[in-house]
Amino acid sequence: MPTVVLHRGGQVYRDEVKENTNLVVRAGIKQFPFPNLRYGCGMGKCAKCASRIIKGAELLPAPNWKEKKQLGPRLDEGYRLVCQLWLNHDLELVQDDKPLEPL
Ligand code: FES
Repeated sequence: MPTVVLHRGGQVYRDEVKENTNLVVRAGIKQFPFPNLRYGCGMGKCAKCASRIIKGAELLPAPNWKEKKQLGPRLDEGYRLVCQLWLNHDLELVQDDKPLEPL
């Protein structure tokens, strides 16, 4: 099972998740990483779930059009929209204290 490590607000939250897990969907049903994951629409429209991937990014699929639209050059800094990711491997991510400013 994939292990997810979330850094937020100076804390580290770690747990295992099932294969093919979407972290925003999980948080929506109050499972880890709830309540520590910031998210909004769940549909790639608000960028509130934007997170910097610090381990495991190379195994993720290429960003989809929603991520490209919301994140633009911030993709190159390692940001992804977590609501657009289904995980099948270990992942470590950081959510900044403030949400990203809209492009
Ligand atoms: S939760 Fe709105 S873009 Fe991910």
